[in-house]
Amino acid sequence: MLDIRVEKTKTPKPLPGKDNPLKFGTIFTDHMFLMDYEEGKGWHDPRIVPYQPLQLEPSAMVFHYGQEMFEGLKAYKTEDGRTLLFRPDKNIERANRTNRRLCIPEIPEEDFLQALKAIVKIDEAWIPTKEGTSLYIRPFVIATDPFLGVRPSHKYLFIIILSPVGAYYPEGLNPVKIWIEDEYVRAVKGGIGEAKTGGNYVASLKSQVKAHDEGYSQVLWLDGVHRKYIEEVGAMNIFFKINGTIKTPKLNGSILPGVTRDTTIRLCKEWGIPTEECLISIDDIYESYQNNTLEEVFGTGTAAVISPVGQLRWGDHIMKVQGGGIGPISQRLYDTITGIQLGKIKDDHNWTVEV
Ligand code: COI
Repeated sequence: MLDIRVEKTKTPKPLPGKDNPLKFGTIFTDHMFLMDYEEGKGWHDPRIVPYQPLQLEPSAMVFHYGQEMFEGLKAYKTEDGRTLLFRPDKNIERANRTNRRLCIPEIPEEDFLQALKAIVKIDEAWIPTKEGTSLYIRPFVIATDPFLGVRPSHKYLFIIILSPVGAYYPEGLNPVKIWIEDEYVRAVKGGIGEAKTGGNYVASLKSQVKAHDEGYSQVLWLDGVHRKYIEEVGAMNIFFKINGTIKTPKLNGSILPGVTRDTTIRLCKEWGIPTEECLISIDDIYESYQNNTLEEVFGTGTAAVISPVGQLRWGDHIMKVQGGGIGPISQRLYDTITGIQLGKIKDDHNWTVEV
C-alpha cells in the first residue's frame, strides 16, 4: 500500500465549459501523480502534486534512447455520480509487460491501481459527462538517469496525467479513411511492436504525414517481412466483417494487444457472431471487397473506442465500405462498450472498477 503525499494546487484552473468540444489530448487537469525509482531503493516517494513542467537533466536517458513505457485508459462518470475505470487490470498488466520488454522495473499491480484511483479521485470534477466524452488517463514511465551510454537506466519517473477528452478522430463516430502502407513498416516480430512505447509511434509519423496529405486519417500497417499481412492501425487495432465472420489479425509479437480489441472479441463471441483471430492478407481483403463480402471494417482502441472505417486505400485501389456509414456491428459494439463504461448497461463481466 502506497503512502501517497498530496499537495493540492493553490491556483485551480477553470473546468472546460459544457460547450468545449474537448479536442483529444489538449487540456490537462490540476494535478499529476509522480513516483521515483532508483536502483537499490526501488519505487519510492509516491506523490500527487499540481500539474506542472518537469525538471530533468538534458542527459536523461529517455531523451536519447527512448526508454519509456506509456498506457492509456479512461475514467467515466455514471448518471448516479459514481466514477468508473474500465478494465484497469488489463492496462496495468500490459504496462508491466512493456516494462519487462524495455528493461524498466515493474510497478507492483496494487500500487499502480491505487495511484490511478488516487489521482482520478482528486481531479474527479474534471470528468466530462457530455455524450462521447471521458477523462483520458495517461500513465507513463521515463528513464531519468543522466547518462549517455547505452544500457538500462538506473533511475525512472512514473507519472500519471489526466485529460478530459472527446472523440480521438475529428470525425467522431463517422467513418474514417485509412491508408494501407506498403512502403514503410511499423514493427517486426521480435522487435518492440507489441510494447506500448513511443518508438512505435514515432516510426509511424512519416507514413501518417503522407496519408494526411492524401486526405486519410490513419495508416494501416502490413507485416514487416512479407508486406502482405494486416497488422494494426497504430492508434487502434483493426477488425473486418467478411461474409458474416468477424476477423482480426492474431497477435504475432508485432501487434499491440489492445484492451478494446480483447473486449470486442469477447462481446462478438458472446453474441454468437463467428469471430476469428487469424492471418489476414491484404489480397484477401481486396478480394472480399471485389466480391462484395467485405461488410464492415472498424478500428478499436481506448482513445478511438470503436471507429468505423469508410474507405481503405491500397496503392491505386480504393475500397469503399458500408456505404460510407457506420455498420450495425460497429454501432452495437460502440453502444455496448460505452454503455458498460458509463454504468448504463449491467456489467456482467466485472470490467468496471469504482474509484
Ligand atoms: C490509446 O488508445 O489509449 C492509445 O494509446 C492510442 C494513442 C496513440 C492515442
